This record gives sequence, C-alpha cells and structure tokens, in this order.
Amino acid sequence: MIRLGVLVSGSGTNLQAILNAIESKTLDAQIAVVVSNRADAYGLERAKSAKVPAVTVDHKAFATREAFDAAVVDVLRAHRVEWVVLAGFMRIVTPTLLGAFPNKVINIHPALLPSFPGAHAHRDALAYGVRISGCTVHLVDAGTDTGPILAQAVIPVTDDDDEASLAKKTLLVEHHLLPRVLQWAAEGKIQIEPAQPGHRPKVRISS
Ligand code: GRF
Repeated sequence: MIRLGVLVSGSGTNLQAILNAIESKTLDAQIAVVVSNRADAYGLERAKSAKVPAVTVDHKAFATREAFDAAVVDVLRAHRVEWVVLAGFMRIVTPTLLGAFPNKVINIHPALLPSFPGAHAHRDALAYGVRISGCTVHLVDAGTDTGPILAQAVIPVTDDDDEASLAKKTLLVEHHLLPRVLQWAAEGKIQIEPAQPGHRPKVRISS
C-alpha cells in the first residue's frame, strides 16, 4: 500500500476518483493527506467526507513559489507521503517539491501531450480543430506538462463540442486513467531509465 499526497485547487473530481478506487479496492493506496492552495476548494470537502486529513496552504501567504513548495513539502513529509499526485493543482511546482519526491510526482493533464500544455488545454484543442483529444498522466519535471508520459486515453471531439462539453467528457476518462496509473505505482511497476545526455528520461511500465 502506497501513501499518497493529493494536491488540489478546485473541484477535486479526480481526488474523488482516487478515493472511490481505494474504497472499491481497485487501488491499493491510502491518501495520507490532501493539500489545497485555496481554502474554498471543494476537494477539501471531499477529503473531509472521506475522513482524510485536509490542509490548506495558501500560496498568497508566501513570497516565492519555492517558499510555498517548502511549506507543502513539510505537510507531505509530516504525513509520510511517498507519491504526490497533482489532481487539478493549478500551481507550477518548483525543484523544491520535485527534489523532495524525485520521480514520484504525478500530474494529470486534460489533453494529449505534448499537444496543448498549460492551463487552457480544452480551449486550445478546440481552437486548433482537433478531432480527438484525451488526457495524459505523466511524471512531473521542471517544465510545464513536459515530464515523461505514463499513460494516455483518447476521446472523440465532435463539431458541437465546446469547452464545457469537452472538459466533461475528458474528465470521464481521467477518472479511469489516474487510479489505474496509481495502481501501477502501488505495484512498483513504474521504472525510470536514467536519461542519456540530451535525451528525455524513459519510463517503462513493467508487466
Ligand atoms: C482536470 O481536468 C485535470 O486534468 C486538470 O484539472 C482538472 C481538475 O479537475 N489538471 P478536478 O479538480 O479533478 O475535478
């Protein structure tokens, strides 16, 4: 059983998917703590309903991203977290957090990376006119949505899709994919091959 720290900023439907997967025993993990950078994030309510420790670390109280990340790391360490999950966490993380959990920070992004990174993935995908979209679960590195890809799922985009409908149907596949990848982590299946100079690190999912 792995100990997860889940970082949220908003609604927390991915957090709920993780809680549900743990409850139904398809994910062998425990959420040690949920951390939000916003006191009004609904994800905090989800954590409380599930009797999971929930902590707000308000980013506005810190002068730098690094100082904020150091405070988050303190909370994660205090709860003996092993893997960190960014589940709708709308902050760029720094080497302060990444260095504390090397290759153990996972993000879910609502597009097929490397297309449409950043905070407006659905808007950008629709503006481009893609016919498929989806979601990506990846390890986090120092860039924005650039880390090694662990898994992806696809959905069709139709002519009548708008940002809201695309977000809604993307979330459905997110809720399946994220717990699945976390179960790979729980089973020790995520192997990182050291990066060759000038290359990206390679990830293998052992069977
Ligand atoms: C998801 O679409 C996720 O991919 C993105 O932010 C959204 C969070 O949704 N990073 P929720 O808070 O899990 O409902």
